[in-house]
Amino acid sequence: MNMKSHIWYSIVVYVIVLSLEGKSRVFGEPRAPCYFIFGDSLSDNGNNNNLVTRAKANYIPYGIDFPEGTTRRFSNGGNVVDFIAEKLNFSNYIPPFMNTRGFNIAQGVNYASGAAGIRKETGRAQGQVISMDEQLRNHNLIIRQIRQSMRNNDSATMTYLKQCLYMVEIGSNDYLNNYYVPSFYPTSSLFSTQEYANVLIQQLSSQLKSLYCKGARKIATFGVGLLGCTPYARATFETNGSPCVDNINDATQLFNIGLKSLVDQLNSRYNDAKFTMIDVAQISTVQPPNQGQIISDVPCCEVQSDNVQCVPFGRVCGNRSGYLFYDGVHQTAFGYEGLANRSFIAQFPNDTYPCDIQQLVQLKLPS
Ligand SMILES: *[C@@H]1O[C@H](CO)[C@@H](O)[C@H](O)[C@H]1NC(C)=O
Ligand SMILES: *[C@@H]1O[C@H](CO)[C@@H](O)[C@H](O)[C@H]1NC(C)=O
Ligand SMILES: *[C@@H]1O[C@H](CO)[C@@H](O)[C@H](O)[C@H]1NC(C)=O
Ligand SMILES: *[C@@H]1O[C@H](CO)[C@@H](O)[C@H](O)[C@H]1NC(C)=O
Ligand SMILES: *[C@@H]1O[C@H](CO)[C@@H](O)[C@H](O)[C@H]1NC(C)=O
Repeated sequence: MNMKSHIWYSIVVYVIVLSLEGKSRVFGEPRAPCYFIFGDSLSDNGNNNNLVTRAKANYIPYGIDFPEGTTRRFSNGGNVVDFIAEKLNFSNYIPPFMNTRGFNIAQGVNYASGAAGIRKETGRAQGQVISMDEQLRNHNLIIRQIRQSMRNNDSATMTYLKQCLYMVEIGSNDYLNNYYVPSFYPTSSLFSTQEYANVLIQQLSSQLKSLYCKGARKIATFGVGLLGCTPYARATFETNGSPCVDNINDATQLFNIGLKSLVDQLNSRYNDAKFTMIDVAQISTVQPPNQGQIISDVPCCEVQSDNVQCVPFGRVCGNRSGYLFYDGVHQTAFGYEGLANRSFIAQFPNDTYPCDIQQLVQLKLPS
């Protein structure tokens, strides 16, 4: 490019940038009119309450810092989903599928279930669970109701569903509540860690495609975090002198690598949709500066003998903003807020791939 055309190019770019800025000032930032959530205990806000399962957070000290009190969320306060709903300017948190009474379901529903996984059997050792496939079936029931409210107009329903944000946060339990519990699940004797990552990604791929067929066009998928660094894993497995259980992190990293390439594949296959990955493991690897000393190796609450959930009415730490983990596997509201912040607006280039949630909801897709 010679100098003259370079200057011309700069002017064109400058004009485009100016007009984009002007536009967003005039019309305000667009946000998703609706938000649907699929996932596990990081996102569950009450779907497990009436199930026969140990994976419930309907007792103190869960929710002690939440305005609504003990809220069935696996945290002292809100979870990632709640903080993202706040950033999207929703006037209320997204209701759980199990109890949508009094809420406008057209604004979104949360299908997430503690202990759930991509695989159907995941989490069964804890009791009943709503697997990813069942969550998708529950979404069909909600879509049917939305369609009825639109006088059974299929094209209007589809046009509406295409504007929503969809979040899929699943996979951790396929490791901690399946592969790494060989006494109950056979997967670790059937698959190497690479094979297991492959079968999980394959199944997630059909789940995401099915979500696309149900009208989803803006889909944020969450990678699996550093499960080997959770207080539960550190207390349960051999660390061999390392701060974390490295073989667990190595196994989940294979899943994350697979998810990244799945996102690429889906984006090139469906040009009227956008998939992005929130790299939870990467986010927890790079600590932002000026956060003070965060305790991340022990939980804030007193945990039960299996090192997973809080003891009912047990002790809790005084400064919940000084701890990353609330119980053995779930983060404090402070931790979830940090994750939500960096999912919404990436703080480092690799926090999200290829875009963050704010860019995703603002994206104009070809119809
Ligand atoms: C939410 O509202 C705030 C102020 O009320 C505004 O600055 C922000 O851009 C809005 N966010 C979205 C995603 O619309
Ligand atoms: C369905 O909704 C669309 C708007 O999305 C409208 O153009 C169309 O006329 C509606 N069809 C019927 C049968 O009402
Ligand atoms: C809680 O801990 C954080 C991180 O160490 C620190 O920045 C904050 O000041 C503490 N808050 C209180 C009230 O002690
Ligand atoms: C998240 O972002 C908000 C501002 O958008 C900030 O006030 C808050 O401290 C951040 N939280 C964490 C844990 O980084
Ligand atoms: C970000 O990702 C790229 C490619 O995936 C890698 O080369 C780079 O080292 C990563 N950066 C950080 C800060 O981790």
